[in-house]
Amino acid sequence: MPLKFDYIAKDPHSEARRGRVHTAHGTIETPVFMSVGTFGAVRTLDHTEIEEIGVQIILGNTYHLYLRPGPEILKDVGGYHKLIGWNKPILTDSGGFQIFSLPHQRVIGEKGVTFKSYIDQSYKRLTPESDIAFQETIGSDIMMVLDVCVPSTSPYEVCVDAMKRTHRWAKRCKLAKTRDENSLFGIVQGAIHENLRKESAETLVDLNFDGYAVGGLAVGETDEEREHFTNFTARLLPTQKPRYLMGVGTPHDLVRSVRAGIDMFDCIIPTNHARQGVAYTFSGKVKMRRVFHAREQSPIDPSCACYVCKRFTRAYLHQLTKCEEPTGWKLIAYHNTWFYERLMEKIRDTIVAGTFSQFAKDFLSHVEE
Ligand code: GUN
Ligand code: ZN
Repeated sequence: MPLKFDYIAKDPHSEARRGRVHTAHGTIETPVFMSVGTFGAVRTLDHTEIEEIGVQIILGNTYHLYLRPGPEILKDVGGYHKLIGWNKPILTDSGGFQIFSLPHQRVIGEKGVTFKSYIDQSYKRLTPESDIAFQETIGSDIMMVLDVCVPSTSPYEVCVDAMKRTHRWAKRCKLAKTRDENSLFGIVQGAIHENLRKESAETLVDLNFDGYAVGGLAVGETDEEREHFTNFTARLLPTQKPRYLMGVGTPHDLVRSVRAGIDMFDCIIPTNHARQGVAYTFSGKVKMRRVFHAREQSPIDPSCACYVCKRFTRAYLHQLTKCEEPTGWKLIAYHNTWFYERLMEKIRDTIVAGTFSQFAKDFLSHVEE
């Protein structure tokens, strides 16, 4: 059974779409924000909490899971769902992005990539074939091809070579796939060159993947370039398949990219920024470490229905974050993940109601970035 995508509604005034992705572990309502669970947990939160928040799908990472627990243990325990006790959908990134951001600790050839483990400094190797075999061992519902991601400001020839190798590897990944229940997405590269993005999208669409990711963004280009290439690339992809913008982003990025026709996102912002005491709301960012919160009796957001906002004051969260108390990080991570889910819900509801464009306009102009 190939991945099924129902296209439910389209916003009349933009490219925004409302859809539904069916996986072996359940259905995802799109546009969706996927919470990052690199090591088996969404940072600071357990599965009961993320289910309560409404998280639909979590992201695992081939690079990290390959190093620990590794293929043998994952096989013996029956895959990643079983290991972490999560029965809902899981998407795995191929590791390409992580490995390529280790410039002094990896060697890339046509066959694959050799890299140094950050755990014991030993050398590990991944090829398109072994990467897919490992993602199947993980039991990922949505696997990603092993791609070559270069800084978007790289010399043109470097971008061409990375893109072409990405295409050859994508073909090998597709051939290496052995199971119907683990679907596979291609990743469009091509940096900030329209002709390359076009060639990349066309080549991958010809290979007929279950969905398509836009990769190679948020790696050095300006905000304007990123928005332009998100719009430009989304339009090159088939309407009837899900589109995933990798590693993005802030609430503003999500609204802008949904408007461009993107269905899926992942980002570490909601949990990582929580560590610095940054909370997100429909009125903008709140920096909990600021001294003027020290006596504030109001919650992060009086209109938020999450348990953190129902129970705790900004004064308390200020105290916890100033003292680097892990509970402070966790409470803000809970609220932020809740906020991201409610934002996506709002996006989905307004697309169906035909009011998304107005919502996006109001959000982008009134909420401080
Ligand atoms: N995460 C963010 N960008 C990318 C990318 O270009 N490729 C992969 N594999 N993961 C990413
Ligand atoms: Zn809240």
